[in-house]
Amino acid sequence: IGNLHQIGELQHQSLWNLSKKYGPVMHMKLGKVPTVILSSSDTARQALKDHDLDCCSRPTLAGPKALSYNYLDIGFSPFNEYWKDIRKLAVMELFSNKKVHSIQPIKDEEVKKLMDSMAESASQQTPVNLNVKLLTLTASVVCRATFGVTFEDTLLSDNNLGEIVREAYEMMASFSASDFIPYVGWIIDRFTGLLGRREKSVGDLDAFYEQMFDMHKEEKERMSEDFVDMLLRLMKEETVIGNGKLTRNHIKAILMDVLLGGVDSSSITMTWAMTELARNPRVMKKVQSEIRNQLGNKSKISIDDTDKLSYLKMVIKETWRLHPPAPLLGPKEVINEFEINGYVIQPKTMLQVNVWAIGRDPDTWKDPEMFLPERFLDSNIDTKGQNFELLPFGGGR
Ligand code: HEM
Repeated sequence: IGNLHQIGELQHQSLWNLSKKYGPVMHMKLGKVPTVILSSSDTARQALKDHDLDCCSRPTLAGPKALSYNYLDIGFSPFNEYWKDIRKLAVMELFSNKKVHSIQPIKDEEVKKLMDSMAESASQQTPVNLNVKLLTLTASVVCRATFGVTFEDTLLSDNNLGEIVREAYEMMASFSASDFIPYVGWIIDRFTGLLGRREKSVGDLDAFYEQMFDMHKEEKERMSEDFVDMLLRLMKEETVIGNGKLTRNHIKAILMDVLLGGVDSSSITMTWAMTELARNPRVMKKVQSEIRNQLGNKSKISIDDTDKLSYLKMVIKETWRLHPPAPLLGPKEVINEFEINGYVIQPKTMLQVNVWAIGRDPDTWKDPEMFLPERFLDSNIDTKGQNFELLPFGGGR
């Protein structure tokens, strides 16, 4: 089993603790899989920038394989012609500036609904579960923009949403013994119940995608094309992607990325930001004053208004430093041999970047455990993937 027994339930924290003893380039054997964990901004830069092309593939893992219909999605495709084509499709069509801009009215409406419901709770002095409210907000935006429906009208309603999305997320990220232990691993997964849970999770999501296809069967007059309309149109036009044509399974895999990538990441960010503001009244007061000074009594804040809220932006960066929604970036697979800090990394090694550890590295951050948005004052660090000390969205190709 190699080092598997040294990894607890919160993998990023176990690996962070080990890295304090063994350093920012740490080789482990996870069962049969040689794995290197990078835990500093400098080693992350060496991998994701200097040797990007040597390590930009993805390993084959049972969870992602099942949920992505055999790696047909954007995030887990191995590095090949399909990888290039699906990214082109993502940039040109799915996440084009025009497309992202077009969903702004949906965001505005859903934010207004949230604000109204909060105001109502405030006037009646009833407590609010922010975690649930924010998850509902991001799910509503993602569902309306992607599927053209509110999630209450789908199989994700009746409190199923959090359960189905979070369970799928867990099935995607959790250790599967079959990935690491040859021959008998799958028996362990059957015995622990992981296999059954994964099959159910894939089945639940599949039923949801099928429901979406059914709902998009009739050609309705729509104000604008949602994601599913667009992907069905591309399928009808027999769009070639990689070595074949776009199929229903490709569409399901892409929808999985949007559902799992889009819903939780944004709501986790907002929940942690509000948690840190509640824990740090000084910072809370400063954010409130900035909003009141810059925007006065405006009841509706537009996306352009947020340009004036520089302190709020620092609060969000500080939230991502301490609480990145993906604390370990998606695992990479090494394609060609290269060196980091003098250590040779062999092809087929699994490479993990521990963004959670990087955000707490005392060599990079002064008082790393403190929530101090002011650390970003007069700093050029942004989150676009070129500053390797802050990688909430990952880096590299
Ligand atoms: C706070 C918001 C978000 C954060 C912090 C976040 C973070 C991340 C991270 C860390 C990765 C993995 C990068 C890697 O392995 O190197 C990723 C990949 C991805 N995310 Fe997000 N994400 C957010 C919002 C979204 C949204 C709203 C969508 C779609 C609607 C989305 C879609 C994707 C997709 C498709 C990928 C795979 C991209 C690839 O492999 O090239 N994400 N995201």
